[in-house]
Amino acid sequence: MTDRFEQVVNLCKRRGFVYPSAEIYGGFRSAYDYGPVGVLLLKNVQEAWWRSMVQLRDDIVGLDASILSPPAIWEASGHLQNFTDPLVDCRNCKERYRLDQLDDPSTCPNCGKKDTFTEARQFNLMFKTYAGPVEGSGAEVYLRPETAQGMFVNFKNVLETSRKRPPFGIAQIGKSFRNEITPGNFIFRTREFVQMEMEYFVPPDEGVKWFEYWCDERFRWYTDLGIPAEQLRLRPHDADELSHYSTGTSDVEFLYPWGWGELEGIANRTDYDLTQHGNHSGERLEYFDQATNERYIPHVIEPAAGATRTMMAFLLAAYSEDEIEGEARTVLKLHPRLAPYKVAVLPLSKKDTLTPLAREVLRLLQPHMMCDYDETQSIGRRYRRQDEIGTPWCVTVDFDSLDDRAVTIRDRDTLAQVRVPIDSLANELRGRLEG
Ligand code: GAP
Repeated sequence: MTDRFEQVVNLCKRRGFVYPSAEIYGGFRSAYDYGPVGVLLLKNVQEAWWRSMVQLRDDIVGLDASILSPPAIWEASGHLQNFTDPLVDCRNCKERYRLDQLDDPSTCPNCGKKDTFTEARQFNLMFKTYAGPVEGSGAEVYLRPETAQGMFVNFKNVLETSRKRPPFGIAQIGKSFRNEITPGNFIFRTREFVQMEMEYFVPPDEGVKWFEYWCDERFRWYTDLGIPAEQLRLRPHDADELSHYSTGTSDVEFLYPWGWGELEGIANRTDYDLTQHGNHSGERLEYFDQATNERYIPHVIEPAAGATRTMMAFLLAAYSEDEIEGEARTVLKLHPRLAPYKVAVLPLSKKDTLTPLAREVLRLLQPHMMCDYDETQSIGRRYRRQDEIGTPWCVTVDFDSLDDRAVTIRDRDTLAQVRVPIDSLANELRGRLEG
């Protein structure tokens, strides 16, 4: 893998974004824990998505459905039958592969032997467990492999309680689980991950129009949050790639260090899911349009993104190295909305004389935004530390501050420094954040 990728993975560990899971026990393959700044970044990715999908719109409402779910849901959705990957084992070295991901399906990429693969078996990716004290088929439950089904099975509840009418959407953020055969590339593909999905219910003849609308909207979301457009592309799926429920899917792809890959899928799921759940449950999952006296099963357009995968793309796009006064610096040029800390309060020296005022400034800012506070090491090293975790602004409290009650704001990207009265500091930073 490229240097850049390794540098980002190292930075994640070193600065507390992402740790390998269960490390003190030797690690738990391809599971990850999000550290003090990682949890903030991941939360901010989710908040930015929720803001654009729910907060700034009046046609989409939220939902938080359960992760544990009965087999009936997955029977109806088609996942029990179709949510499979073709699995092959190398008889020589025992490595396991997804057949559809092999460049050459007759040669093992690990040991190089030819024609050593077993027959492909369809392997279902859903995690199964048991509810209650008795293990058995009556107690079987699944961990959801996508959040989407929670929205479909609650379609009627949401329709009745929110009084929305098509076109309208239900949005959800939450963990999903897939027993991936080949997890890897850091947090790109893991067995436990966070999804951000929205099901948009539309009149049947408006499916194509809304599919195009959501492709554009979702592409723009990434560029608005700082991923350069040339590192993104929309790629329509070929017919043989489509999921069992989709008549058309386009992926928003990102240029990862190993090449183009999926960031988000936008699918036209038609009336597949509501029809299936209607037939299996006996509930009518329809909309009755009083204006036209028509009853119909809405079609669904689904933008489905991964929060953890998106977080990695934002980190890769933001990572840069430059030089200040002959000294190399690593800087994460994260959009301020995504940055774990918006501001770091740094007293110029650790002298007791500056600490009370610096702490006063910190307390003043904390109700408005996530702040860091650091009084160890030289000011230069503390700036570098904040640059590395993407903090857009540092506020320095110096000896003049004791007299003029003003502080210096230093900008991560331009390095510009401006003096601002403490009384107007919160407003100034909030303005920058909103802008
Ligand atoms: N409901 C549709 C659906 O789940 P998907 O393309 O399988 O579609 C949507 O998943 C997004 O979820 C992907 O684009 C990706 O960002 C994320 N995702 C899927 N599997 C993942 C995994 N194993 N690890 C991390 N993210 C994953």
